[in-house]
Amino acid sequence: MIRIALLGAGLIGREHAALIQAHPGTGLAAICDPSPAGKALADTLGVPHFADYAKALDATRPDGAIIALPNRLHEPAALACIERGIACLVEKPVADTVAAGMRIAQASEARGVPVLVGHHRRHSPDIRAAKKSIAAGELGDLVAVNGMTLFDKPDAYFQAEWRRQPGGGPLLINLIHDIDALRHLIGEIESVRAFTSSATRGFVVEDTASIAIRFRNGVLGSFVISDAAVSPWAWEYCSGQALYHPAQPGPCLFIAGRKAALSVSDMYLWRHASQDEHWQHPLLREHRPGDGSRTYVNQLDHFIAVIRREVEPLISARDGLATLAATLAIETAAREDRTVTLDEMLGQAAERAVA
Ligand SMILES: NC(=O)c1ccc[n+]([C@@H]2O[C@H](COP(=O)([O-])OP(=O)(O)OC[C@H]3O[C@@H](n4cnc5c(N)ncnc54)[C@H](O)[C@@H]3O)[C@@H](O)[C@H]2O)c1
Repeated sequence: MIRIALLGAGLIGREHAALIQAHPGTGLAAICDPSPAGKALADTLGVPHFADYAKALDATRPDGAIIALPNRLHEPAALACIERGIACLVEKPVADTVAAGMRIAQASEARGVPVLVGHHRRHSPDIRAAKKSIAAGELGDLVAVNGMTLFDKPDAYFQAEWRRQPGGGPLLINLIHDIDALRHLIGEIESVRAFTSSATRGFVVEDTASIAIRFRNGVLGSFVISDAAVSPWAWEYCSGQALYHPAQPGPCLFIAGRKAALSVSDMYLWRHASQDEHWQHPLLREHRPGDGSRTYVNQLDHFIAVIRREVEPLISARDGLATLAATLAIETAAREDRTVTLDEMLGQAAERAVA
């Protein structure tokens, strides 16, 4: 039995608690959350409760820890785990700044203690099937990618003041998942440009953005995101894998290569019948379905293997750091109306991490 401490028992922490309880190979070593709701959850589940995560780690010596704390606490909590040799799953984003994420990556690498970042989509059956198809060369050399995350958040969501201010919008809350999936499937991002608009909701923070991406392997991409538009085109619906949204099967990501195109999450591969065909010939449509597994269960299974040191984390702290840097690059590109490179974001952060 793998014993896992849960640091932070809020919205997503409670989901992790339920997943750990339901898994035959794991148990909760401790719940650490100073809120009355955190204590109540620990009491209900019959699990030791702590208000201080360092004390929880020292007292219970868990095999692993899940960090589902507010973003600014990801760094100190991850470092507390690493110092004690405890593998951790840090919810996304890896940290609240690139410099803090870099310090986590450096500590993880220096001490040889694995950190898995909670970009759950990489464990999703549709993204896994897409990765497999691309890696097998079914699409040929990739040329272009286009994606959408368009959904309508309720007005009540914006009652929290921070959600109306810079940082609380769809770029840093939602797009980071799409950027991680794009990096995983297509390759490392070289540079970005972006436009944002706050015209629909009228808040200071953006409600809509369009993004142009250049990948290091030469692929070009575009993406649009809005939290103020009604549509079924978002991974949350299309995959049927999200925790809080209905399943609305369909496509939200379109990947095109020299040999074929693939739409995700409906997983249709479009190709010519023979190599000499072109745009005047009908395309064949084939299905490349996922394996029917569940994303968050897959993530926990993977974390167990990481804790046992059987596999390297699918998303290391350094990998999660690049996803954060690319997402912040988009925010900078829109704000300053210019092209921003990933090297620029990571270079600035390296200076700050040392300072
Ligand atoms: N991967 C996903 O699907 C997903 C979904 C939602 C949130 N998240 C991420 O998970 C993290 C938590 O988000 P949330 O929505 O659950 O937030 P939340 O505010 O609902 O929960 C955070 C919890 O941390 C507790 N907490 C605060 N300070 C603490 C401390 N010092 N020690 C212990 N507990 C403390 C709070 O009492 C609260 O219960 C964020 O980083 C967020 O980005 C990921």
